Amino acid sequence: MIPRETINQIIETARIEDVVSEFVTLKKRGSNLIGVCPFHKEKTPSFNVNPARNIFKCFGCGKAGDSVRFIMEHEHYSFQEALRYLAKKYGIKIEEREQTPEEIMAQNERERMFNINSFAQKYFSDTMMTTDEGQSVGLAYFHERGFRDAIINKFQLGYCPNSGSAFTEYAIKNGYDKDLLIKVGLTGSYENRLYDRYQGRVIFPIHNLTGKVIGFGGRILTSEKTKAKYVNSPESEIYNKSQTLYGIFFARNEISRLDNCILVEGYADVLSMHQAGIENVVASSGTSLTTEQIRMISRYTKNITILYDGDAAGIHAALRGTNMILEEGMNVRIVVLPPEDDPDTFVQNNPIEYVTKYLTDNAKDFIGFKTNLLLKDAKNDPIKRASVIKDIVETIAVIPDPIYRATYIKECSRTLEMAEQTLTNEVNKILRAKYRKQLGLDPKLDSQLSYQEYQTYQPQQQQVEPKDSTPVGYFQEQELVKLLLAHGSETIELEVSDEDGNNSLVKTTIASAIIDDLKNDGLLFRDPTHKKIFDAFDRGLDAGVLPTAQDFTSSEDQDVAVVAANLLSTQYKLDDWHRHRIVVKTEDDVLSQTVISSILRFKDMVIEDRRSAIMKEMSETTDIDNQLILLQEKKKLDEIRTRINKNLGIVITR
Ligand code: CTP
Ligand code: MN
Repeated sequence: MIPRETINQIIETARIEDVVSEFVTLKKRGSNLIGVCPFHKEKTPSFNVNPARNIFKCFGCGKAGDSVRFIMEHEHYSFQEALRYLAKKYGIKIEEREQTPEEIMAQNERERMFNINSFAQKYFSDTMMTTDEGQSVGLAYFHERGFRDAIINKFQLGYCPNSGSAFTEYAIKNGYDKDLLIKVGLTGSYENRLYDRYQGRVIFPIHNLTGKVIGFGGRILTSEKTKAKYVNSPESEIYNKSQTLYGIFFARNEISRLDNCILVEGYADVLSMHQAGIENVVASSGTSLTTEQIRMISRYTKNITILYDGDAAGIHAALRGTNMILEEGMNVRIVVLPPEDDPDTFVQNNPIEYVTKYLTDNAKDFIGFKTNLLLKDAKNDPIKRASVIKDIVETIAVIPDPIYRATYIKECSRTLEMAEQTLTNEVNKILRAKYRKQLGLDPKLDSQLSYQEYQTYQPQQQQVEPKDSTPVGYFQEQELVKLLLAHGSETIELEVSDEDGNNSLVKTTIASAIIDDLKNDGLLFRDPTHKKIFDAFDRGLDAGVLPTAQDFTSSEDQDVAVVAANLLSTQYKLDDWHRHRIVVKTEDDVLSQTVISSILRFKDMVIEDRRSAIMKEMSETTDIDNQLILLQEKKKLDEIRTRINKNLGIVITR
């Protein structure tokens, strides 16, 4: 545990220009420094370092943050690891806080499980490389399969001797705890006797993102049908199969450099691809992909290429789970291998030039691939064709980006030989149902939302940079968040009116002006990250200590840190408030004018949006109760609108 004071000391000592220049050549440009972005491919520099704010931002790819964030992104370190790296660089001693016995117990269990795994991995590797049995059985097996020592060492492959409990006994002799050995699945117990769960198997250690061994897969060497081909680690505090991708530690840098992740099925596939020099490859380990795994990949790239066996089972496995990937906003391509091959045999048996050319030539965008495949199955059967169309339409509807959706609709209308408008209507029907569900309305009542509404509809999803179509009020929210971050604790003077219409001047912080007023009208930010920043200020107001910009740019919450750095990096445009017909009494104070007009603009936007939705619903529902509820909501909105128009929008309660 690094104490908070030390964290602050590290962040303050680590000058951004200094940290970055170790990896990027920076040139002076005004008060900032610029360079070629290390996170995406570019020729002209758009990577910006702002020494005054101690943050960086790339105007090309949008990555932004402080020194810690830079190291996390660049080295793919965790928060703690990045801090340790910087502490070392600047000679800051990390006084690890004394831990209580309970903490030691709790924290140590995980730590001890990692230690046991690391010990076991070394034992399995040594056994394979230095013992007779290891060499003649384990190593010989890997060599036979075409794996050379370099890849064997890199992936820390090993062998567990075929002798009952040799490993377990050795581990216990070295002081490792029997119960933990069982817990991590290295040891089994049967009628009070301990045995090695991986005995007589070759070992594939499974690494987490930071390279720690969190589990093992042990493959049998024979083709005996009575025994499981693989014995795997059980789920534990350190191993969660659905959150793990085999090979991610070795692949992550290439994935982000090439902006593409190749997905295969098994351990052997990953090894063979890496050995052939294709290193942006990970395996789902035989199960279909989970959302967590997709999110892990999406930290490095939005592009996935699925590489599956050319047989029918492989192709159908490739189709499964892909809607989930599309739903996460990722682009999916599929490469089907020749029928007799899997990725392992394909790279082992062909020259690398052929393999890379094959991969480029045969990568098909997923929806086109699926359409053609299903159409082939359906032949001329009209009923089957109809169900193909339904299936494709459902797939297109999960894509969050409306522009991509439109592109796919266009393309599928050609392959399916159907009018584009018909497909659009079908997709929209599904989107409307989803939209209604998210609003808490009955999804089956298919009211006619405007074309605009479902064209721009996006399923709830975290967004760092606004896309082409963003939720209503997003930019207005951004303005307010920017004000909070850059000026939240500054004081402004506002003229406020009480209920009797008496005016008075009030001194308040900008944070209080924004937060209290919005809360008073029950208006919240819709973007989840904006909401987090809003909440932090809200808590700060209650506690009497407002957060600083640095608290956000150095937040452990990745989304918050990135959004904060982004907003603080954009040119701050003081408001052209005259346009908005706002009469401001304290004319000398540009900042208060900006605050007021930003608040009003936000409200205006949100209220208009909600109001027109209500009007529409009122015209469509015949249910009296429904009508009444809607009417009440509309009344409240109209009140707020009247106040805005009278320019009496600001209410401060703290
Ligand atoms: N798998 C598993 N348990 C099994 C079978 C498979 O955990 N009984 C997982 C493994 O992660 C394996 C992946 O599913 O790597 C793919 O299975 P398969 O293709 O059978 O395994 P390969 O590793 O490709 O094995 P082989 O050595 O036969 O190429
Ligand atoms: Mn295989």
